[in-house]
Amino acid sequence: MSGEPVPWPPAARAPEVTAYAGVRRKIMGAVVAQAIHAVTELGVVDRLAAGPATAAELAADLGADVDALTRFLRALAGEGLFTVAAGEYALTPAGELLRSDVPGSLRHLSRLMTGEAYRVWEEASLSLRTGGPAFEPVFGAPLFAWLADRPARQAEFDRAQAGLAGMRAQPLLARSWDGVGHVVDVGGGNGMLLGLLLAAHPWLRGTVFDRPGVTSEAGLPPRCRRVEGDFFVSVPAGGDVYLLAQILHDWDDRRAVQILRACHAAMPAGARLLVLEQVVPEDGGPHPAHLLDLHMLVLLGGRERTEPGWRRLLAAGGFEVRAVTPGERASVIEAVPA
Ligand SMILES: C[S@@+](CC[C@H](N)C(=O)[O-])C[C@H]1O[C@@H](n2cnc3c(N)ncnc32)[C@H](O)[C@@H]1O
Repeated sequence: MSGEPVPWPPAARAPEVTAYAGVRRKIMGAVVAQAIHAVTELGVVDRLAAGPATAAELAADLGADVDALTRFLRALAGEGLFTVAAGEYALTPAGELLRSDVPGSLRHLSRLMTGEAYRVWEEASLSLRTGGPAFEPVFGAPLFAWLADRPARQAEFDRAQAGLAGMRAQPLLARSWDGVGHVVDVGGGNGMLLGLLLAAHPWLRGTVFDRPGVTSEAGLPPRCRRVEGDFFVSVPAGGDVYLLAQILHDWDDRRAVQILRACHAAMPAGARLLVLEQVVPEDGGPHPAHLLDLHMLVLLGGRERTEPGWRRLLAAGGFEVRAVTPGERASVIEAVPA
């Protein structure tokens, strides 16, 4: 860019118009996120799952203002969530992902991102200045301690994680589990990820280990038990495979090493550790993990890591990396006690 002021209106200069529209669109992302949340919470997506409807029908069924609803639907049709034909709205495949009754529903993630997480992001500059999380300064307690005192919010957090589990599970499901008997899912949330693994491999047994208060509304999968505790202190002994799925990225290196050491101490001879995480490209090139990296910083003081970063972290926790299997959504880092 030349450094010259962009003329107003900017239509006269095509590259600047594109840049203007692109930046403006990114800034308006907050509106898109909140509009998705408002419409989904009103029940529009679940109502349209039953069949197409006009804005007037939806407004009457769901108790909305018909003009406002029409405008929300129009905007979100532009975002690819709805189609409109002959005045009737219908869900697109993208819109279907927000239904409450589909496996892998993103509805709970939408709620999570537009609730406390959104308010924390207002103070993201705190993280930028201090290098630490903004959650505690805003809400008075670190995220997981705050959730522990609020069972309804905890359940929402667990549902949001479970909604992502199907996507995360792919690289794990694709592995060979021959010769494995018992999988311990450390920080396994409400057991959704382990449930998918056990369903795909009927000879496996599982232990879901998490904080007290994290429970599964759908119940635990068969051949699975729940153990409560604190992974900074100890984790259940005796597994063949220890799974850390989206756990270490929640924490800075010092805390992450504590978790790894607790796993190390619990692992019998021959056991393996599988870390399911994003691997950030070393060249700093574009990657979806860069935004997640910021979210982890602002919420928890955690971080996404490059492959050398993961290797250094695992070595500090007493592990030697045996393989890194890249996946589209998450990679599997396999390690054994050194
Ligand atoms: C980002 S979620 C990941 C959940 C699950 N592994 C998945 O992939 O969907 C982090 C999990 O770590 C758990 N956790 C946080 N602190 C913990 C602690 N001190 N001890 C045990 N679990 C903890 C949380 O309750 C939560 O379920």
